[in-house]
This record gives sequence, structure tokens and C-alpha cells, in this order.
Amino acid sequence: MTEPLKDRAVQRTRDLAILGATGSIGCSTLDVVSRHPDEYRVHALTAHTSADELESLCVRHNPRYAVLSGLPEDTALRRRLRGAGCPTELLFGAAGLLQAVEECDAVMAAIVGAAGLAPTLHAAGLGKQVLLANKEALVMAGPVFMRKARDAGAVLLPIDSEHNAVFQCLPTDASGRAKVSEVRRILLTASGGPFRTAPLEKLGAVTPDEACAHPNWSMGRKISVDSATMMNKGLEVIEARWLFDVEPSRIEVVIHPQSIIHSLVDYVDGSVIAQLSNPDMRVPIAHALAYPRRMESGAKPLDLAAIGQLSFEPPDLQRFPCLGLAYAALRAGGTAPAILNAANEVAVDAFLRGRLGYTAIAQVIEEVLGRLEGGEADTLERVLEADRSARACAAQCVENRTERAA
Ligand SMILES: NC(=O)c1ccc[n+]([C@@H]2O[C@H](COP(=O)([O-])OP(=O)(O)OC[C@H]3O[C@@H](n4cnc5c(N)ncnc54)[C@H](OP(=O)(O)O)[C@@H]3O)[C@@H](O)[C@H]2O)c1
Repeated sequence: MTEPLKDRAVQRTRDLAILGATGSIGCSTLDVVSRHPDEYRVHALTAHTSADELESLCVRHNPRYAVLSGLPEDTALRRRLRGAGCPTELLFGAAGLLQAVEECDAVMAAIVGAAGLAPTLHAAGLGKQVLLANKEALVMAGPVFMRKARDAGAVLLPIDSEHNAVFQCLPTDASGRAKVSEVRRILLTASGGPFRTAPLEKLGAVTPDEACAHPNWSMGRKISVDSATMMNKGLEVIEARWLFDVEPSRIEVVIHPQSIIHSLVDYVDGSVIAQLSNPDMRVPIAHALAYPRRMESGAKPLDLAAIGQLSFEPPDLQRFPCLGLAYAALRAGGTAPAILNAANEVAVDAFLRGRLGYTAIAQVIEEVLGRLEGGEADTLERVLEADRSARACAAQCVENRTERAA
């Protein structure tokens, strides 16, 4: 079980495992942690195949464990680390991800995609403090995940800037859980991505590099494409549903191109509370690391006069069909969100590899949701089975389109 949050007022050095350390969130986390060496010690770092990047992170941060989950044993790397005087024990394969979270106090869950589910769920089941960037874990297995976290006394702290903002705008109980009883609506903001105003007829021809060129945030390629299609916002609506235990009809999305307001909470008395900052993921990361205190993140202070204007508009579901698909999957319930997530991962991967057009991403997802019958999502096995079937079905849909185009 984790220690009660009130005991953290007297801070001691805490051991942190970073799942997905070589990614965008992983690097931002290491940046924040490096500013506070007395508060956090790097216990474990993981990557999938980025061996060189992980090696340099080990030399710099000297973790107890490092994991390359997608590679077989590499004795040369082990020798190199020893030669550099690095005390790190190197683990290979997916089992290493589970070991990485076992002896630490807190876990930054920043693996991208469904691959993050097993180790994040394991950390929650061990009652760790889980800093949740991997939204896909909650999208796939929300009820299973939340039940396990609650039973084990885990503390979940949102890293997605929108959910972190909502968390900051809500009252929390003694165990750090947000309370939504007096809330009318949660308003998630979205930038609208790089194609917010592009002519609709041009979207069929956009390239992966264009889709990844987000106007405000620098992120990994998968979430960048999700931001362009607004599937990212759809996944966040599902994440918010489970994280804050609110029904879908009370979660709305508003486009806010400047990405300064990260989300808002509308209370029953008409008060609306928002959280603002420059778009820099070190802000929510530092908030979650220091919670319930505050610590310096390295982000620039906000200069509202220089920004001048904040604007808002409703999302256009013709331009962003993925957002509508995500709401539909959430309303359908059961395994539908897991199917949506898996189909999206396959379609985005095919788009990034040049095998699928940008507008076909939503079409593939819709086809998969139409073809597969959803079921109960009350056990991890059922969720994983839905994930497998949806991946196979989506791969077939992509293949059919490739053949038709040839
Ligand atoms: N980036 C953001 O600003 C942001 C904001 C909010 C939420 N998030 C969420 O945070 C998560 C990470 O996003 P990101 O942008 O940091 O992603 P990213 O830059 O693509 O990094 C992904 C990390 O996960 C590892 N990884 C990839 N595939 C894996 C697999 N199959 N098994 C185990 N590890 C794997 C990668 O290792 P390799 O380097 O070896 O491939 C890398 O360390 C996502 O769920 C995203 O939705 C991100």
C-alpha cells in the first residue's frame, strides 16, 4: 500500500520507475526529476528498442534497473554499461517491465499504446503512486483498472495535461481521489491540431510529417497523429469517464487553439474553474511528482498580455470523425473502447508507414467497430481478446484497401 498523501508533507527521496523513458514524456520527466535530485531517485528506466538512447540515460541517471522490452539479450550492451561504471541491471523482454515497477514508490506510466496496459495495471495492483500518461490503459480497461487501483490503494495522478487540469480544478478526498458530486460538466480543451482550418478536400493527401507537425505541443508520432484526427481527444473523453467517474454526457470538448487553458470544470452553481499554463508537459509532470505540494518544473511563466487572446469554438465532427467514433464507443460500453483503441493503433501505424491515407484512419476504425461484436469488459482477459480481434480485423481492412489501391 502507498503511504497516505498527508505523510508526504514531510518529503523523503522517492524511487521512481519511468516506463517509456526514451519517449517524449519520459524525457520531460527526467528533465523535471533532474531539477530535484533530493526528491526523486531514478529506480528504473524502460525503452522498447531504443538501446543507444537507453544506454546514455543509464550512464546519466544510474538507475537500479533498465529494461529493453522489445529486444533479446544483448551482452555487449551489458558489458558497455559495466565498463562505464554504471550499476544498472539490464533486463530484456516484456517481463522486465513488470519487475521495473515492483520495488519503487512511484511509476511514470509513459509507454505509448496498448503495450502500456500490463505494466501500468501491475503497478496499480501493487498500490503504487501511478503517474498516468498512458491513457490507452484506461481506454481499454477502465473498469478493471479502476477497481484494481482502488482495491490496492493506489494513487492515480493524471499526466495528460487536460486530466491534470481537471484534477487541479476539483476537490480531492483524503486519499487524493477527485470528487465530482457538485460538478455539472467537465470541459476538455483541444487545440484542433494542424488541420483545424485546412480545406476538407485536401485532408486525403496529408503526409505523416504534416500530421505530426502539431502547432503547440512536441510529442511522440502516434499521439501527434491522434491529435490531428482528434482521436486523442476521444481517448481522453473515455479516460476522463473512468478517472473521474462521470457519465459521458457530462464530458464535453471545446476547441481552444492556443492550448493555454488545459481544461475546465463547470460547477452546478455556474462557477467555471480552469487551469492555465504554457503548453509544456513538464507542468503536469511536476504537479503529479510533487503532489500534494508544488515544485519548479522548468516551464516558462505564463505571459497573458503577450498571448493577448484566448479563443474557443465547437469541434466539427465532419472534420474530426474520430471524435464522434470515440463517443459512440464509450456509449456502447463493454469492449467497444478497446476495439476502437486497437483499430486506431493499427490504422495510425499504417498511416505512419505510408500504407494508408489520412482520411482512411477513421474509415478503418468505423469498419472495425461495425464488424466486431463487443462484449463485457469485466476481466482483463476479455479486454485483451477484444484487442487481439480488433487488431486482426483492422489489419485486414488496411490490407483490403492497399489491394484495392494497387
Ligand atoms: N507526448 C505528450 O506530450 C503526451 C501528452 C499526454 C499524454 N501522452 C501519452 O503518453 C504516452 C507516451 O507518449 P509519448 O508521446 O511520450 O510517446 P513516444 O515519444 O512515442 O514514446 C513512447 C515510449 O514508449 C516506448 N514503447 C513504444 N512501444 C513500446 C512497446 N510495444 N512496449 C514497451 N514500450 C514501448 C518507447 O520506447 P522506444 O523509444 O524504444 O520505442 C518510448 O520510450 C502515450 O500514451 C500518450 O498518449 C503523451
